[in-house]
Amino acid sequence: MKELSLLQEIVNNFYTALESITTLKELDRITNNFLGKKGHVTQLFQQIKTLSLEEKKVFVPELNKLKETIEEKLTKKKESIIKSEAATLANTESSFDVTAYKPLEGHAGHLHPYTGFIEEIQDIFISMGYDVWDGNYAETDYYNFTALNIPEDHPARDMYDTLWLNKKNYLLRTHTSTVQIHQMEEQKPPLAGIVPGTVFRHEAVDASHDIQFMQCEGLFVDKNITLAHLFGVAKTFLQKLFNKKELDIRIRPGYFPFVEPGVEIDMRCPFCTSGCSTCKKSCWIEVFPGGMVHPRELALSGIDPEKYTGFAFGFGLTRLAMIKYGIPDIRLLQSGRISFLKQF
Ligand code: DAH
Repeated sequence: MKELSLLQEIVNNFYTALESITTLKELDRITNNFLGKKGHVTQLFQQIKTLSLEEKKVFVPELNKLKETIEEKLTKKKESIIKSEAATLANTESSFDVTAYKPLEGHAGHLHPYTGFIEEIQDIFISMGYDVWDGNYAETDYYNFTALNIPEDHPARDMYDTLWLNKKNYLLRTHTSTVQIHQMEEQKPPLAGIVPGTVFRHEAVDASHDIQFMQCEGLFVDKNITLAHLFGVAKTFLQKLFNKKELDIRIRPGYFPFVEPGVEIDMRCPFCTSGCSTCKKSCWIEVFPGGMVHPRELALSGIDPEKYTGFAFGFGLTRLAMIKYGIPDIRLLQSGRISFLKQF
């Protein structure tokens, strides 16, 4: 009976087809090919009427068995495809469920200690009427040195281990004092602002030196400004930052070509009364260099030094953060180390 051999052929074709499919779409196609209205199995059912009674007795049960087997195999295949598709989906980004709730296990994210510290500094100065200014990392020789009264061949250039860029006269700013000049060129006094920002030096890296760290520059220019204003600002700032109602400062002479006179302002150690490791047993910590803006710098930036005076300062923001939080190694601040960040 040719129908029986046809049936065998269909069984073989079905298994071959089933083996090769991996998607539900392919499964639909095969289901249709075999069991659909014009499918191979359906066509065999239509042949029954052409058979003799004897033939029917043999063929029909075989055909029913075939149909059942095919249906069963297709169902099984469908289940396994759905399972593996779900597994693939679970491994792809698109299945990320933003609404899923995961309870916090002890620690939430927070601002980087630098960010929090900068905001704290800004808040203190803003409360005293200062603006916050920004500037470029890549600068010219003029803004980093010459305009700050450090002409070419001036020995003070050696204080700054400069990283020069490939473009002639360009460098990575070695201090935030560059922004003083830009601001004085752009604005008329009175002007008051701070510049918390990153600076770069060609340093050998160790626990207290890095090639990249942060400073905070300050500038105040108006009529009748004196050193007393600088001392008042320094003291108020340090008292607020270290949360002390009283925090003594002391003043020593200092040298920076862009200020005259120049000063070093020290604060009494906020952590001890008789000497500790932070103040190296001296009870004083050097924190706040500054001075009166050099008249030559004012004039060069378009401000009349006969009419106006001003003070400037530029403290190590990174250094102050290390002092305030007791950070023993400068490299920790930019390490991104979770064990360090979790402590804040
Ligand atoms: N720019 C100086 C430095 O990097 C710090 C400084 C000192 C800035 C005195 C000032 C200042 O504005 O008046 O070492």
